[in-house]
Amino acid sequence: MGFEIRLLGRSPWRYYLLLLCFIVVNIEGDATENGSIFIYGKNSIGQIDDDFVCATLDWWPPQKCDYGSCSWGQASLFNLDLNNKILLNAVKAFTPLKLRLGGTLQDKLIYGTEDSHNPCTPFVKDITRLFHFTQGCLPLHRAKIIFGLNALAGKSFQGGSAVGPWNSTNAESFLRYTVKKNYTIHGWELGNELSGKGIGKSISAGQYAADVAALRKSIENVYRGVVPKPLVIAPGGFFDANWYKEFVTKAGKSVDVVTHHVYNLGPGVDVNLTQKILDPSYLDGEGRTFNNLKNILRTSATSATAWVGEAGGAYNSGRRLVSDAFVDSFWYLDQLGMSAVYDTKTYCRQTLIGGNYGLLDTKTFMPNPDYYSALLWHRLMGRRVLETSFVGTKKIRVYAHCAKQSKGITVLLLNLGNQTTVEAKLGITFAPIPSDSTKREEYHLTAKSLDIHSQTMLLNGNILSVDKDGNIPSLKPVYVEPLKPIVVAPLSVVFAHIPNAILPACT
Ligand SMILES: *[C@@H]1O[C@H](CO)[C@@H](O)[C@H](O)[C@H]1NC(C)=O
Ligand SMILES: *[C@@H]1O[C@H](CO)[C@@H](O)[C@H](O)[C@H]1NC(C)=O
Ligand SMILES: *[C@@H]1O[C@H](CO)[C@@H](O)[C@H](O)[C@H]1NC(C)=O
Ligand SMILES: *[C@@H]1O[C@H](CO)[C@@H](O)[C@H](O)[C@H]1NC(C)=O
Ligand SMILES: *[C@@H]1O[C@H](CO)[C@@H](O)[C@H](O)[C@H]1NC(C)=O
Repeated sequence: MGFEIRLLGRSPWRYYLLLLCFIVVNIEGDATENGSIFIYGKNSIGQIDDDFVCATLDWWPPQKCDYGSCSWGQASLFNLDLNNKILLNAVKAFTPLKLRLGGTLQDKLIYGTEDSHNPCTPFVKDITRLFHFTQGCLPLHRAKIIFGLNALAGKSFQGGSAVGPWNSTNAESFLRYTVKKNYTIHGWELGNELSGKGIGKSISAGQYAADVAALRKSIENVYRGVVPKPLVIAPGGFFDANWYKEFVTKAGKSVDVVTHHVYNLGPGVDVNLTQKILDPSYLDGEGRTFNNLKNILRTSATSATAWVGEAGGAYNSGRRLVSDAFVDSFWYLDQLGMSAVYDTKTYCRQTLIGGNYGLLDTKTFMPNPDYYSALLWHRLMGRRVLETSFVGTKKIRVYAHCAKQSKGITVLLLNLGNQTTVEAKLGITFAPIPSDSTKREEYHLTAKSLDIHSQTMLLNGNILSVDKDGNIPSLKPVYVEPLKPIVVAPLSVVFAHIPNAILPACT
């Protein structure tokens, strides 16, 4: 069935969507199938930060093991080789990369920062230096640091509840130390996974709001006359609608960013992770959380925005040859796209390195497929998010943003299907039909040898890997005639940058 979507012009798009539903035919068993992408061109529906892509570094020591496997190696903030060339190049390629330093152990940390002392004081038996990663020894000047503070300081425990006010003394002295050293901290985040029922321990929403107000006060004291001012971020936990609603209401202006964590694939030990990742209705599930949080922020008297503060997909360190393999990009890119649709401003991937879910391999520092996926997203997907849908197989996921490097747009397509190549035509409402012959730039990502559990990814048929000096490869597109449909092979990802599709939403 052929149809010419370019004639849609300026008509109400929902009407056409309905109409076109009837003329898309899905022929079972066919190796190629047609489909249509629809983009609403009048306004954008969300706006991400320019540095939306964020990654985490954690405190886990080499002794952290899950299901009998110890996947952290030398990737903890205490022992990571910060002079590794690949690591440095990987971070630099983002200019800037947001880096969130935190994780479970952050709520046990005591900062050895008394002014006259060496900042790197001994603190736990197998952890020799505490503040090894200050920007002084961390040559990551192109990273924006988000630092997670211990929210349990001063609290007493009643069963699983941590009660009483937060003792800000030690944290405040740590803030003072970083200011004195001229370290720029982009944001201070209070606590890790203590919201709702909490992981191990929990704090009530009302008390958390009071604690965040105390952090805000400390920051105002310490940063008097100092710029830039850091963001106040909380609670860095799992979304719980009642808890978050109460927290956001009570925290008022104290909090700038409301963070939540995403581990929607279940435990790393689950043998069905791949199946879940390739199941469109499974992926859709997390949309409810993003939408709920968006509605809470919209209906509260707050100007706070939402971030995903930590997301590894599968918890307990992910799963080897899934979380670090090509197949994970279907989960990860879908998350980036979906969270942006619901106005999430920043998305922090657990981890930059460490565990089985690193953007970089924990042992070799080699970029995993998700690293390149993240980098392409960062370079191609601009701030403004466009309302986008796909008419055709459910195995296609589609997201579109105004382009980052042109006045046009970038479309991201994921084909979860393992049999069918999809030829996708593009329909845009409220936009003039591009009339020149400017070619589009396409980036096709596939797994090496079509093995989705491979850690090697191909871009337009060529293997992506660092050179012997640890340089990140340049990511070059292929150029395609503008009138041709976008061809999405089975189990592949396509970014299509269309520089001459000029939408009112993007101008
Ligand atoms: C897809 O569309 C093209 C024309 O746009 C048509 O020639 C082709 O038969 C269609 N394929 C399927 C499987 O419907
Ligand atoms: C807060 O913690 C500091 C140590 O960091 C301690 O000296 C002080 O007594 C504590 N304050 C309260 C009210 O417990
Ligand atoms: C911090 O910056 C100020 C002003 O630029 C400068 O005077 C001071 O020496 C710096 N301190 C350190 C520890 O670098
Ligand atoms: C994995 O999926 C199969 C098939 O859907 C199911 O029978 C099995 O119980 C699942 N295993 C786990 C651990 O969920
Ligand atoms: C293709 O995917 C289906 C599930 O969507 C699965 O049952 C089948 O085994 C897969 N085939 C291959 C060759 O991977």
